[in-house]
Amino acid sequence: MSTPLLQVKNLCTSFNVDSGEVRAVNGVSFNLDKGRVLGIVGESGSGKSVTAYSIMGILVEPGRIKSGEILFNGEDIVKYNKKQMREFRGKRVSIIFQDPMTSLNPVYTIGNQLREAIMLHTDRNRQQANERALEMLKLVGVNSPEQRLKQYPFELSGGMRQRIMIAMALCCEPDILIADEPTTALDVTIQAQILELMQELQKKLGMAIIMITHDLGVIADMCDEIIVMYAGRVCERGTADEIFYNPCHEYTKGLLRSIPRLDTNHARLIPISGSPVDLTNLPKGCAFASRCDNCMKICLSELPEELDINDNHKAACWMNVRQVYNEAAKGGNVE
Ligand SMILES: Nc1ncnc2c1ncn2[C@@H]1O[C@H](COP(=O)(O)OP(=O)(O)O)[C@@H](O)[C@H]1O
Ligand SMILES: [Mg+2]
Repeated sequence: MSTPLLQVKNLCTSFNVDSGEVRAVNGVSFNLDKGRVLGIVGESGSGKSVTAYSIMGILVEPGRIKSGEILFNGEDIVKYNKKQMREFRGKRVSIIFQDPMTSLNPVYTIGNQLREAIMLHTDRNRQQANERALEMLKLVGVNSPEQRLKQYPFELSGGMRQRIMIAMALCCEPDILIADEPTTALDVTIQAQILELMQELQKKLGMAIIMITHDLGVIADMCDEIIVMYAGRVCERGTADEIFYNPCHEYTKGLLRSIPRLDTNHARLIPISGSPVDLTNLPKGCAFASRCDNCMKICLSELPEELDINDNHKAACWMNVRQVYNEAAKGGNVE
């Protein structure tokens, strides 16, 4: 078996603040193979962005990777120095954010910023960088690309700015594109166009994508695999079909109930009741227990491990342990 492109192993990332240690990511593991699309989904505050920033090496103080490994082609990038990390970013892995305005510099033209990005990571000269910038704008479906190069970010629509961010992220042909809620700030029609563009580019260029969202509906058609995060842990993972049609964790079921569906007449959205846990004071058992309709005694005292539902699906929920036990008992395998 070949080495996965990216392996995140038991990643723990915390923020030490006055009130204590905010444990944003608590032992997250996943693999990403070349050219695959992985979805990371969870409510706001579940640790999705902190996971992404840990991989990119862009955590800000007081954020710190406490333990774990992030292997890129088998090499641990947590051990990289600043220079190695800078090279890794941009060339190997790029990220796009929810709000392109925060990443685009308002005082420089689009052309200037694209050229800079290209010249920083490749040995192209100005002329060649300009050609590459034009080529990239065409690739991401920006009309009148020559004119766009001369414009400033504020002169463009939100959807157009996000296309330009995608162009900037892809100009050095990274192996992995991390998209952190890339369409959350856009209205629905534009959202669909950007997702379509990302899928198209993925097919054309073959990079792997980590697609981060709080909205399971957004990633339905796009992901090969999905991990569901809650309180900095993976509570369920599987192929998109398994997550959508056979959810096994109560939290995932709750997320699914909270997205609009086209196949029901009444688009009634049911939010998950209760509020997220305090990350400075995580409970001993399952972090979702206090919000779970099926909470059992053991859920309050012991952390459930991820258990195989089938070859393409795992969930960390005591309900599944009980089901496995019951089924085994029916078959006479349990004394
Ligand atoms: N700069 C920070 N200082 C303190 N805590 C932070 C900081 N950034 C993030 N966190 C904590 O990490 C948790 C996870 O954040 P994040 O990964 O951004 O969530 P999301 O899943 O919405 O992307 C937050 O709930 C917050 O408690
Ligand atoms: Mg986030």
